[in-house]
Amino acid sequence: MHRLAAAMLVLLCCCCLFLATQQQQQQQLQPAAGGNRASPSCIPHERDALLAFKHGVTSDPGGVLTSWQRDGRHDEQDCCRWRGVRCSNRTGHVHELRLGRGGTFGPDLAGQIKHLDLSGNDLAGPTGRLPEFLGSLKNLKYLDLSGIPFYGGLPPQLGNLSRLQYLDLSFMGAMNSTDLSWLTHIPSIQYFYLDGVNLSTVADWSRVMNMLPSLRALHLSFCSLASANQSLPHLNLTNLEELDASANSFHHPMVTSWFWNITSLRFLYLSDTSMYGQFPDALGDMTSLQVLDLSFNYYDDDYDDGKDRIMTMDLKNLCNLEVLNLDLSHIYGDVAELFRNLPRCSPNKLQELDLGSNHLTGMLPRWIGQFTGLQILDLSFNNLNGHVPYEIGKLSNLTYLYLKRNKLDGTITEEHFASARSLQYIDLSYNALKIEISSDWQPPSTLVYVLFASCQMGPLFPGWLQWNVSIIYLDISSAGIADRIPQRFSDALSNVWFMNISNNELNGTLPADMGSMSLQELYLSSNKLTGQIPTLPPNIQTLDLSNNFLSGPLPSATRSVNLVHLSLFSNRLIGHIPESFCKYQQLVVLDLSNNFLEGEPPLCLGVTEYMEFLALSNNSLSGKFPSFLQKLTNVHFLDLSWNKFSGTLPMWIGSLTSLRIIRLSHNKFFGSIPMNITNLSCLQYMDLNNNKISGSLPIYLSNLKFMTNVHMMGCSDDGTLRNGSHLNSLSAVWKGQELNYGSVQRILDTSMTSIDLSSNDLTGEIPEEIVVLDALVNLNLSRNHLTGVIPKKIGEMRSLQSLDLSRNMLSGEIPATLSNLTFLSYLELSYNDLTGRIPSGVQLDTLYAEFPSMYIGNIGLCGHPLQNNCSSERHAPKQGGLGRTEEGYGIPFFYLGLGCGFVVGTWIAFGVLLFKRNCRIACFRLSDKLYDKVYVVVATWARARQTQTD
Ligand SMILES: *[C@@H]1O[C@H](CO)[C@@H](O)[C@H](O)[C@H]1NC(C)=O
Ligand SMILES: *[C@@H]1O[C@H](CO)[C@@H](O)[C@H](O)[C@H]1NC(C)=O
Ligand SMILES: *[C@@H]1O[C@H](CO)[C@@H](O)[C@H](O)[C@H]1NC(C)=O
Ligand SMILES: *[C@@H]1O[C@H](CO)[C@@H](O)[C@H](O)[C@H]1NC(C)=O
Ligand SMILES: *[C@@H]1O[C@H](CO)[C@@H](O)[C@H](O)[C@H]1NC(C)=O
Repeated sequence: MHRLAAAMLVLLCCCCLFLATQQQQQQQLQPAAGGNRASPSCIPHERDALLAFKHGVTSDPGGVLTSWQRDGRHDEQDCCRWRGVRCSNRTGHVHELRLGRGGTFGPDLAGQIKHLDLSGNDLAGPTGRLPEFLGSLKNLKYLDLSGIPFYGGLPPQLGNLSRLQYLDLSFMGAMNSTDLSWLTHIPSIQYFYLDGVNLSTVADWSRVMNMLPSLRALHLSFCSLASANQSLPHLNLTNLEELDASANSFHHPMVTSWFWNITSLRFLYLSDTSMYGQFPDALGDMTSLQVLDLSFNYYDDDYDDGKDRIMTMDLKNLCNLEVLNLDLSHIYGDVAELFRNLPRCSPNKLQELDLGSNHLTGMLPRWIGQFTGLQILDLSFNNLNGHVPYEIGKLSNLTYLYLKRNKLDGTITEEHFASARSLQYIDLSYNALKIEISSDWQPPSTLVYVLFASCQMGPLFPGWLQWNVSIIYLDISSAGIADRIPQRFSDALSNVWFMNISNNELNGTLPADMGSMSLQELYLSSNKLTGQIPTLPPNIQTLDLSNNFLSGPLPSATRSVNLVHLSLFSNRLIGHIPESFCKYQQLVVLDLSNNFLEGEPPLCLGVTEYMEFLALSNNSLSGKFPSFLQKLTNVHFLDLSWNKFSGTLPMWIGSLTSLRIIRLSHNKFFGSIPMNITNLSCLQYMDLNNNKISGSLPIYLSNLKFMTNVHMMGCSDDGTLRNGSHLNSLSAVWKGQELNYGSVQRILDTSMTSIDLSSNDLTGEIPEEIVVLDALVNLNLSRNHLTGVIPKKIGEMRSLQSLDLSRNMLSGEIPATLSNLTFLSYLELSYNDLTGRIPSGVQLDTLYAEFPSMYIGNIGLCGHPLQNNCSSERHAPKQGGLGRTEEGYGIPFFYLGLGCGFVVGTWIAFGVLLFKRNCRIACFRLSDKLYDKVYVVVATWARARQTQTD
């Protein structure tokens, strides 16, 4: 919803800009007003004022002011002939200035000016305040200051401009006003635009407006108005034709608003006003209405009161209605019922009907063909079912047809488009529709946007597409097409710039002549394409060929240097990454994982500082930690796992401060973890498992802010990471299992924070400081040589769900705080030198029931849930540093000795096997099982002995 609102705002701004530009162009086309007049010269002091005005102008991009000259020929000095200046024929006074852009306020101009247009100007003068002297331009009838970045309060002196008919103060910088009563001094005002000015404290805005009976147009969008349910004893606004109050948060029932009696209204814009409840019946009497926009009107989803709207309002008499926009308005009910209440006058003027993103049910009525004027029909994102009636094809003016994401079924045939002479944009995606159109069909219109994603179109490639060279946007993904790409493909679709045919069963090779296509975005992932990657289209920006059977080398970059997003993962590509890849200087996403690439990546690869996502995993790439990465200061995601990279991790890794996810597992990196890796305050996921990294764990862990519950600021919103199919290759070591996570998105969405340093050669102690990482979800330090104790305050790592410290040389007791970790669902402490009583806790008991081997291999542990009772060993001799618990003593000597001896012996037997690296992973599981078995036998025997001696 917010995104939609934002998009609307952007659109609005674009429109404004467009209008401003248009205006400017028009002005520039206009010859100097009065240029044809025989009678010369403007009034000298007015010319001086204009020149002084020009002097204050610091930029004049349109060159409007170049004709304003003090010197020059006689006629050039005539300010009435200057561009943008108009003088009165009668008095010779300057009475109008039209300067679209590029001026600032100078000293006051003569009070003669009637028309002042400074819109779109990017200068606001030295103070940035709206100058009060404007109030002295007493003859102004027209004042347009829109888009000038002023801030602060609206000066009440504007009320002196008592002759104003047109006042546009919309979309300036950050303006506000606490009191609009000055407006009542301008009773003649007809057009008033105040969009974007903060009026949050003006409670009586409607009362003030009601004192302006001449008003024809009132625009108050984005004004932070608090409510519109003021009660007015009598309505004065009998001339009001246009009211825009959109993008204000009224938060009251829609029927209580004050403006429903204004029957003169022709344009009513109320989108995004958070008004709830039924639409007012009074709408049915507003017979002048041409445009009614009630879109984006719903209350917060948390409130149930009155958010459901059954569309009962009777609009049958609104014979002038051209546009009805009810997008995203929480409307329930039957679509045919709704259509029955729409005007069906003759001639039918309804051109645009937007009902998208509601909860409409039922079937489209066959008499939809009566709305002959329809140009835009949007019913997407509803729950419509049944067939699409053929009558829709009778709407000969229909240009946009959006039925995306409903539950429509049945078959779409050529008959559906029989008289659709205007259809250009069609989106039927995500319905259970079958598209049966013969391959020689030529539509009666020129199709431009064609979207049939997830409709059944195959198994043959829809041949009719080749007669539609006008198509520029084509989405036929997941459409059950199991065919070769047709011969004429590149010719026929030569104008397409967006094409998505992913998730089909396309086979055969890619067309060899794709280099002649206009494509900018091409998605062909998850098909069965074979052969080599041909020359790419020159303008291509996004190319996704992942999950196919493509072979041969990577395409060499020759012309297609605009690539932003390149996904080629899960194919059978071989060879080196060519030097020519360095020409892709715009790359943001590069995913080459799951191929057979080898050699060192070219050093020049990192010329692009735009790169955010780099995945090279699961190839046979080699060389040192690639030095080009140093330049990728914006990289969020880096995956080099499952390759043959070696060498040490560089110190500069700490300067990749945008990093969110780093995977270097299953390589041959050695040396210590660079201390400044903790500079990566946005780091969320660090996986270095299965390398030969030695030394101790880094300190200053508290710098890893993302892994703490300190509020995170400044970590970019990984838009690139969240979108796109290039994320499928990621798998995560999670809860002790290798799971395919599907996407980085899931990791990011679940704010999955993880440190995995398992299967390395780390030594030293676990720093006590690690407990500050209270947002860390997964910690795996298993299979290292860590010594010392488990941090006493480990219970502070409250987000931990998975903790694996197994197969180290940790000693001491298990901290009692461990039982505070209420989210813990995987715990593994086996094969350490832990001693003493196991802390009690329901959570730990539950975990033990699920993972009964989690304490195994710690001979010194005792108490529930293990069989050996700590207190019953009270009298046994204390042994070494092991086994002392709060309760008493450790484990009997013979038990330890025998156990250790036996186990050590077993380890020696398996040792050679275990540390032969190639075999290590494969054999590990087997040896683990044997080890467990041996341990259980020993322990049982020891217990038996103990019982006997007792
Ligand atoms: C002023 O004179 C010009 C040229 O003669 C003419 O086109 C224009 O209509 C006149 N304007 C007024 C308001 O009389
Ligand atoms: C109006 O804007 C000024 C300057 O931006 C600001 O100081 C002031 O607090 C604002 N007043 C209100 C009521 O928002
Ligand atoms: C209607 O407008 C007139 C003229 O501005 C004003 O005097 C009168 O108070 C207004 N009526 C109401 C009910 O506001
Ligand atoms: C609006 O119309 C309703 C019914 O037609 C009437 O009761 C109400 O008084 C009117 N309000 C104003 C402000 O005229
Ligand atoms: C269709 O559009 C054309 C051109 O805009 C218009 O002249 C015609 O009246 C429209 N047809 C209907 C039935 O509204």
